[in-house]
Amino acid sequence: MENNPPLAKDLKKVLIDEESIRNRVAQLADEINRDYKDITEPLILVGVLKGSFIFMADLVRRLTIPHIVDFIAISSYGQKGDKRGEVRLLMDTRENLAGHDVLIVEDILDSGSTLSYLINSFHARKTKSVSTAVFLDKPERHVVDVPVQYVGFEIPDVWVVGYGLDYKEKHRTLPFIAEMYPEK
Ligand code: IMP
Ligand code: MG
Repeated sequence: MENNPPLAKDLKKVLIDEESIRNRVAQLADEINRDYKDITEPLILVGVLKGSFIFMADLVRRLTIPHIVDFIAISSYGQKGDKRGEVRLLMDTRENLAGHDVLIVEDILDSGSTLSYLINSFHARKTKSVSTAVFLDKPERHVVDVPVQYVGFEIPDVWVVGYGLDYKEKHRTLPFIAEMYPEK
């Protein structure tokens, strides 16, 4: 057992510890390396800010295929307590995605509106292919059907923080995934 500091008071328990994250991200990277082993042009990974930045950093350091790292920022009104379903582009990619293989890297699949918006918008840019990698998936909460090729962990319908995910900007940089107590 690692000797960890006590959890913050608003956190219920550690759901996924650092070692499990490390092992699973390595497996996902292996799968991606295998699936894209024959590509001739670099794979463009597009991370969805801010939540994906830690997952992205861990994932790309294990890729052996040619790749380019890019980011996109969107506001989804899918934050806890807000209304859901509306997605707005705040910052576009630096790369022109046309003609390229693209892998969207997202922190968590919840209702599916964010990913479905991005997949449609990337297809409209005449990409060669679009696939998706999500670190977490909450299957119970899907509203829109989204094809996802790489899933880190399936989790129940609870609010989680850490490893890039936040609650009102809190707990984003915890090295593990923790479940929060429901809001009073
Ligand atoms: P979707 O568009 O409903 O699939 O929402 C996805 C976005 O909601 C994610 O990118 C997160 O920013 C946010 N989100 C959903 N569930 C959680 C959670 O448990 N913790 C932190 N952020 C979450
Ligand atoms: Mg997000």
